[in-house]
Amino acid sequence: MIDIMNATKYFRVGFFGTKKTAVENLSLNIEEGKVTGFFGPNGAGKSTTIKMVVGLINPSGGNIKIKGYPASDCRSRLKLGYLPENPSFPRGLKGIEIINYYSKLLDKKINKDEIYDALKLAGIFYAKNIHAHKYSKGMTQRLALAVSILGDPEILIFDEPLSGLDPVGRKEFKDIIFKLKKRKKTIFFSSHVLADSKELCDRIAVLVNGRLIKSEDLEDIEKEAASYAEEKKDNLLTGEYSTPLEVYLYDLMLKSRKN
Ligand SMILES: Nc1ncnc2c1ncn2[C@@H]1O[C@H](COP(=O)(O)OP(=O)(O)OP(=O)(O)O)[C@@H](O)[C@H]1O
Ligand SMILES: [Mg+2]
Repeated sequence: MIDIMNATKYFRVGFFGTKKTAVENLSLNIEEGKVTGFFGPNGAGKSTTIKMVVGLINPSGGNIKIKGYPASDCRSRLKLGYLPENPSFPRGLKGIEIINYYSKLLDKKINKDEIYDALKLAGIFYAKNIHAHKYSKGMTQRLALAVSILGDPEILIFDEPLSGLDPVGRKEFKDIIFKLKKRKKTIFFSSHVLADSKELCDRIAVLVNGRLIKSEDLEDIEKEAASYAEEKKDNLLTGEYSTPLEVYLYDLMLKSRKN
């Protein structure tokens, strides 16, 4: 569904325009109808990858295709919903005005009921007549989520969808992912919460320092995690990371960071 082939992105930074590599030679295939979780520490390159996929930035090298269309081609985005990392909306507009505006950008006509359904599903219907610049972080996140699911897209790309949400919001959002998963949507989401991996994902990809260090089905990675836990035995971390999968992912990131 989404083919990332040897994608590289570097930025020019500083007075001398020094090259800074954010993503290096990344190849990843996001399969149709599956939920792929994208994990990695701060600055790993997750958002940069996602921005390349949705066509917000161009790769410095390599190729990205969505349903066969290059990410730079607007046809690749026709069936795609995107929730950015830090959504923001223009000042002075109410939630309902914002979502109405976005509904007009889609290639099909969206009626009022569909807009209301998206707002309800995202749990922000009650605040639709409030100016969005008065929203809290979580409310803004919910409005952005409503916008991203508008028009029932086949592919959903969420950049840290759970950040800023309260415990109820997190549960609600996970339920939305489950619902979308049942409807065989293709979902690609980034997260820092290792516990989300087991709960939500069919596949797990781990990025560290711009490099993909893992991309496997949940089952396979769980098997690896179980034998890793067996090896470590009493040295398994407790507390924050308690399941073998969480500890395995945590240690993977830690080790790769040191190298
Ligand atoms: N516009 C930019 N100009 C220069 N460097 C950038 C730019 N955007 C990202 N970077 C750099 O690219 C690297 C990857 O950033 P990115 O935002 O993709 O990380 P991330 O994995 O999403 O991190 P986080 O978990 O904190 O959201 C970082 O070192 C960052 O400083
Ligand atoms: Mg990010």
